[in-house]
Amino acid sequence: MGTGQGYGKTILFGEHFVVYGLSAIASALGAKTIAMVNVVEGQGWTINDQRPATPGYKKKKFDEAQQAINNVLNYLKIDTENQKLEITFTGDLYAASGVGASAAQCASLARALNDEFNLNLDDEQINEAAYEGEKSYHGTPSGIDNTAATYGGLIRFVKNLGSGPNTIERLQAAKKMPLVIANTGISSSTSEVVADVRRLKDEKPEKFETIFNEYSKLVKEARKALIEGDIITIGDLMNQNHRLLQDITVSSELNDLLVNLARNNGAIGAKLTGTGRGGLVIALAPDAQTQEQIAKSIEKEGYTVWKTTVG
Ligand code: MEV
Repeated sequence: MGTGQGYGKTILFGEHFVVYGLSAIASALGAKTIAMVNVVEGQGWTINDQRPATPGYKKKKFDEAQQAINNVLNYLKIDTENQKLEITFTGDLYAASGVGASAAQCASLARALNDEFNLNLDDEQINEAAYEGEKSYHGTPSGIDNTAATYGGLIRFVKNLGSGPNTIERLQAAKKMPLVIANTGISSSTSEVVADVRRLKDEKPEKFETIFNEYSKLVKEARKALIEGDIITIGDLMNQNHRLLQDITVSSELNDLLVNLARNNGAIGAKLTGTGRGGLVIALAPDAQTQEQIAKSIEKEGYTVWKTTVG
């Protein structure tokens, strides 16, 4: 049996902007998806998805997940005519919109196939295979999710809009920072939201140019603040980033509600993370005690939260 893992991720800065070639910063989470591949007699493949998940997530993403698996199998030229693959997904990464669950699934599968069939793939090739899988979830992924899922750690990512390679800078943060991740419970479609933003950008190019310029300055400062461990500046920049995400219409009442709850309970900064219009919100805490307070206040309102560290 072949096994492999893919990390969950959280985008600290730059979801959506990253699609247009602007820099984004993501941190892998400790939680992972684990894939196991078993070869038996027969044809085709079966999937046993044991990942913990937001209610409704797996159903909503079922077709995309099937296509993602096909994409990875085809990209790696795995024969499913003369053998059958039993694929199991498990692990402690909670499958929800915004946590890079689809990318972690694709990266873990690529690693498990690499293991089972001795493909001798390096991380770059695993990342390419995971990217092919991600395409099923939305046609033009920036590649940040699969890159974080494959490499782990803290990364700055710039999509190359031409034909060359993407920029992947591995960052070393000065300190680990307590983070709360809060789940709106709403699974949004990345492809739909990304397409909608593109439509709005085409309609209002000047508005978007101003927003992009502001974001570009912000993310440069964020990189520096992360390296220096300047948590106050990081929080402030997260708040600014959330405002820009509101401007491009990817926040929602529920995202804003959770962001405000976190801020009112001691978060230094809070923003939506990932696709938006539901999905997840992240809140940066100055210390473990405040992290607990933020988490409790959100949980009290009936939303699921996780406590983690980034950096
Ligand atoms: C989704 O996790 C992040 C988006 O920026 C899309 C992408 O980068 O491909 C919304």
